[in-house]
Amino acid sequence: MITNDDCTNCKRAAIKLGYWQDPYIDLFSRGTPHIERKTPEINRGYFARVAAIKIIIEKFLASVKGQGKQCQIVNLGCGFDTLYWRLMDNNDGGDTDRNVDSSLIKHFVDVDLYGITSRKIFHIRHRPKLLSSLGDDIQFNPMELQSNVYKLIPVDLRDTNSLSTKLLTECHLDKELPTLFIAECVLIYMTVEHSNNLIAWISANFTQPAFINYEQINIFDRFGQIMVDNLRQRDVELLDLDSCKDLESQKSRFICNGWDNVEAWDMYHVYRFGIPPNELHRIENIEFLDEANLLEQLLTHYCLVVAKKNLPNFKVEF
Ligand SMILES: C[S@@+](CC[C@H](N)C(=O)[O-])C[C@H]1O[C@@H](n2cnc3c(N)ncnc32)[C@H](O)[C@@H]1O
Repeated sequence: MITNDDCTNCKRAAIKLGYWQDPYIDLFSRGTPHIERKTPEINRGYFARVAAIKIIIEKFLASVKGQGKQCQIVNLGCGFDTLYWRLMDNNDGGDTDRNVDSSLIKHFVDVDLYGITSRKIFHIRHRPKLLSSLGDDIQFNPMELQSNVYKLIPVDLRDTNSLSTKLLTECHLDKELPTLFIAECVLIYMTVEHSNNLIAWISANFTQPAFINYEQINIFDRFGQIMVDNLRQRDVELLDLDSCKDLESQKSRFICNGWDNVEAWDMYHVYRFGIPPNELHRIENIEFLDEANLLEQLLTHYCLVVAKKNLPNFKVEF
């Protein structure tokens, strides 16, 4: 709960300043509560995270189109993420001219614990702007929503049996279609056994899976330990620290669990080399950054991992 609210508030703060556009995120809060200002390095970090994930999704969709297929996207620990609505807009909210062919997406599944899915459903039900993207055939209960393309389901990701039932039986995901799983700051909240189990279940059950993992690295250095302590003081326990040791540990958890191709970059590298220069120029003019080394320090403590299986045309380079 806390972590989703923190994340949503950080995104709202950056969006308010114009780092990227998202006409949906405010619809997931009651009224218009005060948005606490964040530091420029936090805003730039969130910008890089959202922009880079968008670039990777576009590459995934382009590779799917090249195969002449449709695909599926599963957002694990989705929180109040607005990705589905941004993709359906055909213009994923950025100030670039990149477009997304949303007709390639056969199923989009948001997954989180029921405490989050029930709140997310409450907002969707009461906001015509969110509902209108779901089509006419919508079925609700207080914790779960099923529509033609979009599904929002309560699952504890530590329980792969119930994930299997929900995704494969109730949401009718097709094991044979290219399927992109996204986890943004989620796996670290599970033990290494649980996160490995989840990663292994996906690679064993889908023929052409891809996985984007965004989360912490270098967690055992001084800055990393301060991040852990700050969260612990707020009763947020990070359970899978070992996988967040460095880029190698982030990659090896996939290699050891059935994935045949894995790439990983720290977010400072992604920020410097992965964001289109005109976009970087635009956002660097939004706020003055007093100490560039603070940005570097923050971004070298987060990473993006892209793992895939049987998807030779899906290539990501930063
Ligand atoms: C830091 S938030 C990130 C939310 C979203 N991915 C984003 O980036 O906006 C972490 C999310 O993971 C979810 N989560 C943590 N452990 C989970 C579990 N065992 N099963 C399902 N969701 C979980 C939390 O409920 C929360 O919404």
